[in-house]
Amino acid sequence: MISPAPTAPLTHLLTRLAVTFFSTTPAAPYKQPSVPGSDIPIPSPTAKMPEIPDYPYGPRQVYKQSNTGLYGSQRIRFGNNVSEKFEIKTRRAWRPNVQHKRLWSDSLGVFVRTRVTTRVLRTIDKVGGLDNYLLGHKAQRIKDLGPWGWRLRWRIMQTPAIRERLAKERAALGLPPKEDVGEWIKVEGSQVARDALIAEVDKKLQEDGVFELSNEASAGPSEQDIFMKEQKPRTQ
Ligand SMILES: *[C@@H]1O[C@H](CO)[C@@H](O)[C@H](O)[C@H]1NC(C)=O
Repeated sequence: MISPAPTAPLTHLLTRLAVTFFSTTPAAPYKQPSVPGSDIPIPSPTAKMPEIPDYPYGPRQVYKQSNTGLYGSQRIRFGNNVSEKFEIKTRRAWRPNVQHKRLWSDSLGVFVRTRVTTRVLRTIDKVGGLDNYLLGHKAQRIKDLGPWGWRLRWRIMQTPAIRERLAKERAALGLPPKEDVGEWIKVEGSQVARDALIAEVDKKLQEDGVFELSNEASAGPSEQDIFMKEQKPRTQ
């Protein structure tokens, strides 16, 4: 009797290859440590969490793995390899240098596990740590964060250390203390928006001395208010 044994390893190999190259299963989620003294976990990059506001620029549609790591604005790029002799062109790709790292967060007091490109790693070093990187308020930084960085940003904003820091920055700008420091993390949390905000305050002061930053305050909690509220994680 002829056994199918000789073909079995081949089938197995082909299955393995198919799984490796054509799999649509998302990458395994990060195993994050729990945050000491807090019951809010470090969020997963993909799980539905209604308490986290949507990332203003939406998920990236090309090179989707960058949605679950700190990739900056890097993504896969394509071009040609050109042979020396006959200048034959073959397609090739350039991929970002992606590493798995644990990055220390001062405010959380733990290492956060993440995929990060070496270029972003350099930026994090330059700005003095993960927290500073995540809290950058220019539009370009918000774009660089991507959906995952945005979630981490939300998470560290739930810590007393960061809330205190944001309140101090507000005070330094001469803005009145607010229960919610939501102004800081608006989509337009860019330099432009901040300047506009200061201009608005100055104008109001000159006009009638009334400190009313926006009409939203009276219209119940806005999305920004909810963003900054300490919230229990939802269990599903
Ligand atoms: C293109 O060229 C580089 C460097 O010479 C080489 O490492 C790579 O394997 C080539 N890629 C393709 C698709 O031929």
